[in-house]
Amino acid sequence: MMSQQQISVAVIGAGMAGRSHAAGYRQANTVFGRGLPPIRLATIADANTTLAEDAADRYGFEKAVSSWEAVAEDASIDAVSIVVGNTLHRPIAEALVAGGKHVLCEKPLAGSMEDARAMVAVEKGADVVTAVGYTYRRNPAIAAIRDHVVNGELGDLSLFNGRYWCDYASDPRGPFGWRFKGDLGTGALGDIGAHIIDLGEYICGPIESVSGGALSVQVAKRPLPLGAVVGHDAAPVSDEMGEVENEDTAVFSARFRSGLTASFSVSRTAFGMPNGLGFDVYGLSGRASFDFHRPAEYQLDDAQPRSGTGGGRQVIVGPQMPYFRGGYPMQAPGVGGGNAEMFTYQARAFLDQITGAADPVPPNATFADALHTMEIIQAVVQSSQAGGASVPVS
Ligand SMILES: NC(=O)c1ccc[n+]([C@@H]2O[C@H](COP(=O)([O-])OP(=O)(O)OC[C@H]3O[C@@H](n4cnc5c(N)ncnc54)[C@H](O)[C@@H]3O)[C@@H](O)[C@H]2O)c1
Repeated sequence: MMSQQQISVAVIGAGMAGRSHAAGYRQANTVFGRGLPPIRLATIADANTTLAEDAADRYGFEKAVSSWEAVAEDASIDAVSIVVGNTLHRPIAEALVAGGKHVLCEKPLAGSMEDARAMVAVEKGADVVTAVGYTYRRNPAIAAIRDHVVNGELGDLSLFNGRYWCDYASDPRGPFGWRFKGDLGTGALGDIGAHIIDLGEYICGPIESVSGGALSVQVAKRPLPLGAVVGHDAAPVSDEMGEVENEDTAVFSARFRSGLTASFSVSRTAFGMPNGLGFDVYGLSGRASFDFHRPAEYQLDDAQPRSGTGGGRQVIVGPQMPYFRGGYPMQAPGVGGGNAEMFTYQARAFLDQITGAADPVPPNATFADALHTMEIIQAVVQSSQAGGASVPVS
C-alpha cells in the first residue's frame, strides 16, 4: 500500500507509448514544486521481455516482468499505467482496481463499447483513482488556446476544424498489428480520432450530435507480422495476409451544445504526415491554429481584422503559459518542448490525484469521460451507416 514515504508505480506495456509513461513517472517529481512523496519506479511489464527489460533499464525501474498479472498481484505497487492494445484494457483495469491500485489507462478506453461500459461501472464502485491519458491536453500551446477561448478572447465561436492526419498505415506492406483488428470505430477514429475529439470538447465544450459520417479503408489487406510489432514500426512480415477490419480514414461534422458547428477528419493513411494533429478555432473577434508538428508554438489572430494590419502571428510558448511555468527545466521562452513533457505532466496529474496534492495539476479525464468519447465515435459510425444522417450523442 502507498505510504506517506513513497508511492510505487508500474507500467504495463513497454511498446511505443509505454516508454513515454515510464519516462513520465521518472520525471514527475521534477516538475511543479516538491508536492509529491518520492516515487518508487517499481516494475515494467510486457509480454515481450526484451522490451520490458530495456525499458526498465533505460528509465530506472527496479524490475521487468513478462505478464500484467504479476503487476496486479504485487501488493507493493500503488499506481499503474495500462499501455497495451485496447482489447486488454478492461481485464487489466478490472484486476488492478479489484486489487486496490490506482489506474491510468491509455485511450481509447477499451476495445468495445461493452468493455468501456463495464470499466465505467468499475469506476463508479472504486475508491481508487481511475484516469485516462488524453495526453494532448497537456501541451502548453493547446492549453493556452483553450484559455483564450474560455476567457472569451476570440469572441463567440463560429467554427472548429479538427484533424489528426497520420501516415503510419500508408505503406501497404506495414504489418497487420493489433490496430487493424476490431469493429468500425476502433481504427483511425479510436486510435487517433479519440485525441482530436477530446480536444474539440476540451476547447469548445460538449458535442451533442454528429452528421456526415463517412468511413473508408485504403489498404484492405496487410501482411501478417513474423514477430513482435512495436508501435507503428515496420517489421518482418509473411506472405500471408490479414483482412483490415476497421477504418483507415473518417470524416464527420459535429454540433456542439453551444450551437458551434465543426468538421473533423482523421486518417492513418495521410502520406507524409507523421503525427499531424491540428485544429483551427474561429470566433467573431479572433482565431487560433495549432499543428503538433510545431508543438511549441501556435498561431493567434486577435488584431483588428479590418485595420489593415491584422493577420495571424506566431506565438511561442513560454513561462506565461499553462504547464510551462515549473514544468520545464529551463524557464525561458522559446526553448521548445513536446511529447515527452506532456507525458510527464499527465503522470504528475495522476500522482497529484492519488496523493491529494494541495496545488494539483489539472486532473486527468475519467473512464466516464473516455466512454463519452467512444459514444461520439459510435455516433459517427452510425451516421456513416445511415448515409450521413445526424445522430445524437447520448
Ligand atoms: N496518448 C498517446 O499519445 C498514445 C500514443 C500511442 C499509443 N497510445 C495508446 O497506448 C496503448 C498502447 O499503444 P502502443 O502504440 O504503445 O502499442 P505497442 O503495440 O507499441 O505496445 C503494446 C505492448 O503491449 C505488449 N503486450 C501485448 N500483450 C500483452 C500482455 N498480455 N501482457 C503484457 N504486455 C503485453 C506488447 O508486447 C507491446 O510491447 C494503446 O491503447 C494506444 O491507443 C497512446
